[in-house]
Amino acid sequence: MRQIRLSIPDLPINEYTKANMTVLRKVFEPTSYDMLGWLDVYGVATQSLLNKIKCLVQSVRNNGQVFVVIGVGGSIQGARAAIRLIGDKKIKIIFTGNSLSATDMHEIIEEIQDKSVYCNFIAKNAKTLEPGVAFRILRDFMHNKYGPHEASKRIIATGTEHSDHLWDISKEIECEFLPFPVDVGGRYSVLSAVGLLPMAVAGINIEELLKGADSIRQYVYANPYENDVLTYAVARNILYNSGKKIEILAYFQPSLSYFAKWWVQLFGESEGKDNKGVYPTHLSYSEDLHSLGQYVQDGEKTIFETFIKLCDMGVDFAIPTSSIEDGFEYLDGKGLNHLNLAAYSGTVTAHRKGGIPVMEIEVPELDAYYTGQLFYFFMIACYYSGILLGVNPFDQPGVESYKQYMLDFLNAR
Ligand code: PA5
Repeated sequence: MRQIRLSIPDLPINEYTKANMTVLRKVFEPTSYDMLGWLDVYGVATQSLLNKIKCLVQSVRNNGQVFVVIGVGGSIQGARAAIRLIGDKKIKIIFTGNSLSATDMHEIIEEIQDKSVYCNFIAKNAKTLEPGVAFRILRDFMHNKYGPHEASKRIIATGTEHSDHLWDISKEIECEFLPFPVDVGGRYSVLSAVGLLPMAVAGINIEELLKGADSIRQYVYANPYENDVLTYAVARNILYNSGKKIEILAYFQPSLSYFAKWWVQLFGESEGKDNKGVYPTHLSYSEDLHSLGQYVQDGEKTIFETFIKLCDMGVDFAIPTSSIEDGFEYLDGKGLNHLNLAAYSGTVTAHRKGGIPVMEIEVPELDAYYTGQLFYFFMIACYYSGILLGVNPFDQPGVESYKQYMLDFLNAR
């Protein structure tokens, strides 16, 4: 079976699952939450949506040099993760709207000044300040560069149809509009128009990505109370209840760093509420072995780790022989992947021996299909896990707090 594989430490998974069966049954009750649209991969990524995306992508890839994606949180994290991992370099993709840094904005405007630019503004609620202001700046830039008619052909808005004010703006500036499904929250939106358009612009085979995601859906639905996704969710709850409050997503390919940020947002925003939740964080090894690796090995025992086992990304680099005795003679004839796997195995062994519970998710190869599997695996795991923790995995009331104070400082009301 072409599927990512999970391995976990010795934990009482079956007992815990049985004991929590009543609460787990809620997972597949259609009435449990009104934000479950993402569960149905092709219910969201319909053929007509895919056709529309194909059309838009064709003109962006044929005529554009830069694609600026404006959004924050769940609106951009998934696409950014996949593009960093498996996107091509035909078009430069720039993400903005996730900070209020003037320096960054200057850099972006300078970079795109003389290029052929398209942009995609993504917001479920277009009143969020950071992306909203970036969109205003980019609209102004596009308007000045191309004039209103051509600018409107180069702007695509992804938002809530009919109800949000982005819908009205899109009518006013006459730009293309893609739907942000009402029953899908930001951090669960990567397989909707939100993630699919930017990924397709970056040359990612979104059909394969969706196939991969749907293969996990089928696997889970075939056996909803006994599968690797549930096992992962149960394991993290057992560990949490035994005092392991921090989960580190660890990886040995730096290009997984944005994927890890997507994962952090997914679990952090879904579970960190009601004064509970595993604190999700990520480390990029080998670099972080020479930094927080010390803490992981010898510090407070409140950590567990989930390793993404992906040491070979389909390309190797042969280590040259050397006429200078540099102490690395034992590496002659080897490739970097061999070393990376040794570093991986050494780290997993050392951390296990140091008392850190370690889970592993093995990804056989890196392509769109397995990337889709990873997205769906973690989204549904997060849903299971939130239910087991007893929180609503689809809201984020805490995020509103800073917004209120910021708006006060701006005298916005
Ligand atoms: O996951 C979520 O729901 C959030 O992270 C949102 O994506 C984020 O707050 C951005 O919201 P919006 O798309 O409404 O600007």
